[in-house]
Amino acid sequence: MTYRLKKQVIDILRVLRKKDSEVLATDLVKEMKIDYIVLMSAINDLIEYDLGGFRENDLYKISLTGEGIDYLKNGLPERQLLSFLLENQIKEIGLEELLKRLNLEKKMFYIGISNLKKNRWIAQSKAAGEDKIYLITEEFPLTNLEKFLKKFEKNVIIDYSTLSKKDLTQLGILNKRNLIKKKYKTQRIIFLTEKGKTIDLSKIEVLKQVSKLTSEMLSSGSWRNYELKPFDVVKPGPLLKAGKIHPMNRLINEIREIFLSMGFTEIRGPIIESAFYNFDALFQPQDHPAREMQDTFYLNQPKKAKLPEEDRVQAVKETHENGGDSGSRGWGYNWDINTAKKTVLRTHTTATTIRRLAQYYKENDETPIKVFCIDRVFRNEKVDKSHLAEFTQVEGIVIDENVTLSDLIGLLSEFYRKMGFPKIITRPGFFPYTEPSMEVSVFYDKINEWLEMGGSGIFRPEVTYPWGIKNPTRVLAWGQGLERIAMLYFGRKDIRDFYINPIKWLRSQSY
Ligand code: PHE
Repeated sequence: MTYRLKKQVIDILRVLRKKDSEVLATDLVKEMKIDYIVLMSAINDLIEYDLGGFRENDLYKISLTGEGIDYLKNGLPERQLLSFLLENQIKEIGLEELLKRLNLEKKMFYIGISNLKKNRWIAQSKAAGEDKIYLITEEFPLTNLEKFLKKFEKNVIIDYSTLSKKDLTQLGILNKRNLIKKKYKTQRIIFLTEKGKTIDLSKIEVLKQVSKLTSEMLSSGSWRNYELKPFDVVKPGPLLKAGKIHPMNRLINEIREIFLSMGFTEIRGPIIESAFYNFDALFQPQDHPAREMQDTFYLNQPKKAKLPEEDRVQAVKETHENGGDSGSRGWGYNWDINTAKKTVLRTHTTATTIRRLAQYYKENDETPIKVFCIDRVFRNEKVDKSHLAEFTQVEGIVIDENVTLSDLIGLLSEFYRKMGFPKIITRPGFFPYTEPSMEVSVFYDKINEWLEMGGSGIFRPEVTYPWGIKNPTRVLAWGQGLERIAMLYFGRKDIRDFYINPIKWLRSQSY
């Protein structure tokens, strides 16, 4: 009988025939410079004709951890301790003093002491009121553990199957001390059957490859003599460098969807803002440190901003000076309109939500009002890998009758749940414009940590009264930065990446 095998299978059979023993699949792959998958599929063909086969062999490989390598070089902590005692001819010493004189981490120190005791090289006594140790022998031969550790000098990786029973005991100790790591691997060993070893190679024909079947091949049955060239469905297609939405915009769109799904409407406001909306209307006193040049970009052009109607400006002025009708005593200083007219690059999107309060007043709006703003803000920060001078904030407010802190917590929980954070906590916080104020943290299960997201609160009467928003109508508000979350979402370690745009990263993003 003649055999028809693929060319590759015959090549492999030939190579195997020249060897007189079995071979590791990984070695054969290297030798023949072929793909592992190609090899194994060829072996399957050999199996089909009972010419060859493979066995699997489980392997454990052991190597030292960083700490283990350190001890291999410098000795185990107990040996380091002992050497110090011997070099300095110390036969007894207080524990405290020894710890002070030695250059060892506290944890290592105590591990060392405990093992010196286990080796019966020292004794410990508190008899004189002081915790002391004493050398109690004169010879300190290498311990079995040390001898075993030395094996790693010659072999960085040790094959588990080569270890004796005694070695295994020592291995167990190293493992408990976190000094080794194990790697598990399955090896495949390839062999030929008797038939494979002896079959007359001239009886094996090359199976021709075709990439198309014809009707003639089907009707005559000659298709049996061909091998169909397989389609490689996992082979990557050509790289498509088409335009796509920037990851930041994708994230913004997702957050936008969340707000929309909760019945919010989007608002936007000017980037060049008056100090009035950015600070004064938020009841931030005119000498508040956040207003200073170090934090805020002031503009020369335009130099002066337009303020709202005079009576509203007056109402804000009064809240600062004496509390106006808000029930507050205000800050008690002379409010200066020129300071309020200064132009700034908006430092937070809260300026924009305040504009919405102004609109509420002007248009005599009806509650409830639920709006959000996702937009660019500016702060005079030194730019580094976790700070930007120009970044994005996400902010939402609800104006409604009888809303309370519970409503705010409910909203925050729902908002962050939709963002993928089902666990949140709120803690008391401080902002000049909210009372009470809360810091919001969410639990990020990918890194098992609580992360601070941003601020929230109920706008103070000093903020809402000038716009006719009075008990029982209140404003719930919250806001946060976007880039920090983006770093987590996209696993970027440098916040500047979102604007520097590393092309490789952008290309790897989905459409
Ligand atoms: N404006 C605050 C900030 O920039 C966030 C905040 C918004 C706090 C709304 C309370 C209410 O960090």
